[in-house]
Amino acid sequence: MPDSTSSPPAVTVENLTKVFKSGLGKQAFVAVRDLTLTVQTGEVYGLIGPNGSGKSTTMKAILGLLSPTMGKTTIFGKSSIEVESRSDVGFLPENPYFYKHLSGLETLLFYGRLCSMSGRDLQDKAREMLALTGLEDAADRRVGGFSKGMLQRLGLAQALLHEPRLIILDEPTAGVDPAGSRKIRDLIMGFKESGITVLVTSHLLEQIQEVCDRVGIMAHGRMVREGRLDDLIAVENETELILADASPELLAEIRAIAESKGAKWIRSGHSRTTLERLFLESTEEPKS
Ligand SMILES: Nc1ncnc2c1ncn2[C@@H]1O[C@H](COP(=O)(O)OP(=O)(O)O)[C@@H](O)[C@H]1O
Ligand SMILES: [Mg+2]
Repeated sequence: MPDSTSSPPAVTVENLTKVFKSGLGKQAFVAVRDLTLTVQTGEVYGLIGPNGSGKSTTMKAILGLLSPTMGKTTIFGKSSIEVESRSDVGFLPENPYFYKHLSGLETLLFYGRLCSMSGRDLQDKAREMLALTGLEDAADRRVGGFSKGMLQRLGLAQALLHEPRLIILDEPTAGVDPAGSRKIRDLIMGFKESGITVLVTSHLLEQIQEVCDRVGIMAHGRMVREGRLDDLIAVENETELILADASPELLAEIRAIAESKGAKWIRSGHSRTTLERLFLESTEEPKS
């Protein structure tokens, strides 16, 4: 039995920098700048940040789909540039594209053959994945008629076909309605329970915050905050008071009492999630 305490992390990114050289005369663009992160085996790691912050570029480097300008990435201890590193990972790209004229089942059989699966094993596995992702009834329907949520779930089924130990999901809930997003979140929870490590990105943090053990927040190609969700959103010396139906007069009274006892009034207003606040504060442009 391998000793789990000495097994390598599922993903490491060490001082990753990616510079895109654009066309003649244009300036080079730094999409990811000196980024370091580790995803431990068995955890769900969420990479969040606004559009253009470098999340997809980071994922592509981890998958070996683009070469770093500087730094290195590994999957289960193997460099991403080694082909073997890829056998353990499933990938759901942003906006997965499938052939419209194939059915759900045919799509999975097609992708299974691409990773050298065949025969009864592939048939069984494809059916199993359709069932897991709630697409049994769509097995024989053309993918061209699938909703966005169904396409994302088909993408998840495809990513899981070859039983990877790690799955990388780029914006799995983007463009999916709330009920569809819920199904995808439930699937991610299920992956975790069956021991699959998950690296997931989103620019909509509320869609993934419940499923992540740790999150990293990216802005302008850099990691600006990282940690366990509970630690990140706990603020040591602050207390929240959540009231319903409080009148402005009552709030003013409470504030006066608090300030007369030496407490500092930081804010009041409508409730919103604390992670959302952290996200917005961490990624806003520096005031000059
Ligand atoms: N192949 C490329 N060539 C030039 N610029 C790119 C390329 N891929 C991404 N970029 C730029 O790098 C930045 C980060 O992109 P990306 O990693 O896709 O961000 P995110 O996934 O966080 O939205 C963006 O400004 C994007 O325009
Ligand atoms: Mg992206």
